Amino acid sequence: VETDKSIALIDKLEKERSLGLKEYKYLVENLNEEVFDYISKKARIIGDENYGKDVYLRGLIEISNICKNDCYYCGIRHSNRNCDRYRLTEEEILECADEGYRLGYRTFVMQGGEDGKFEPDYICSIVKKIKEKYKDVAVTLSLGEYEKEDYQKMFDAGADRYLLRHETADKEHYEKLHPKQMSFDHRMKCLQDLKEIGFQVGCGFMVGSPYQTSTTLAKDLKFIEEFGPHMCGIGPFIPHHDTAFKDEKSGSIQMTLFLIAILRIMRPKMLIPATTSLSTLDNLGREKGILAGANVVMPNLSPLKTRKKYELYDGKVCTGDEAAHCIGCITNRINNIGYEVAKVRGDSKCLSTM
Ligand code: 5AD
Ligand code: FES
Repeated sequence: VETDKSIALIDKLEKERSLGLKEYKYLVENLNEEVFDYISKKARIIGDENYGKDVYLRGLIEISNICKNDCYYCGIRHSNRNCDRYRLTEEEILECADEGYRLGYRTFVMQGGEDGKFEPDYICSIVKKIKEKYKDVAVTLSLGEYEKEDYQKMFDAGADRYLLRHETADKEHYEKLHPKQMSFDHRMKCLQDLKEIGFQVGCGFMVGSPYQTSTTLAKDLKFIEEFGPHMCGIGPFIPHHDTAFKDEKSGSIQMTLFLIAILRIMRPKMLIPATTSLSTLDNLGREKGILAGANVVMPNLSPLKTRKKYELYDGKVCTGDEAAHCIGCITNRINNIGYEVAKVRGDSKCLSTM
């Protein structure tokens, strides 16, 4: 009975691209092998109809692990005294981009903690240099919360996209994952601002974070349905040994894949990465992510000497591998499941009105 009802809901989601909160909750609470099989096949067919066999590549440059925030789950949180802090220089960031370009990357993601020394004007000057040098690349920023005028400056400097995971769409849950100084409402406002400015916007959340419930997950899905981001990144929560959540359980791979499939069916053209945390918990995690409907991978392009220091959670993969090694590894993995890495910018095919 549960399986039949779930399958009927999945068909409804495919037709209407929308479900009620209770319906999302039902799906999350009644996952089984049969339902998983049904939804992942459907999600992959829809993925192929929209993006073919292409998987888009983004080169991740982790520019700083200095952070003023103190998210309870995150290994680079401000109060972690054991984190060896670094900040890349402009020159180092440009070198990463040069190497990435040679390897075929056409999107660079500059990601970092909320490092006060990376002032908007400084970020803008780096973005401008990359965009002037390489006419066919997209620059994505993932640097946390700023005021709208700062985001506007970054957009005017040529940044194309911005990733800011909402982390959870439930305010009470948000407050259990973050200290008082961090505001759910401000984070949501940032996402609205980014969209109004014209960025291609990515939001996202962790699967299996402490205090998450089927109700908070249903709210995440409803939020994504209503907000309509161009991209949504989800990955399992993984504890970090120097955080308050060190003894918590990791999130479930199966649930992450299931949610990826729901997102693909809800928003056929949205960009969905197969995340690093997925491959950290399961050696074949990225492949499974793609087979459940994801269409983006984000290999690491950071300099080897700082890789291990950007440790958001324990056991993060690829921290000892050269960028050239990672792109070869990823290409093989993707080819093995019948997909191709597309060496293009890979903009979202979402219409802005979607
Ligand atoms: N496990 C999984 N993902 C994490 N992130 C931060 N800490 C963890 C963790 N312990 C995710 C957050 C953040 C992104 C950069 O990494 O969702 O937005
Ligand atoms: Fe900075 Fe989590 S502590 S992003």
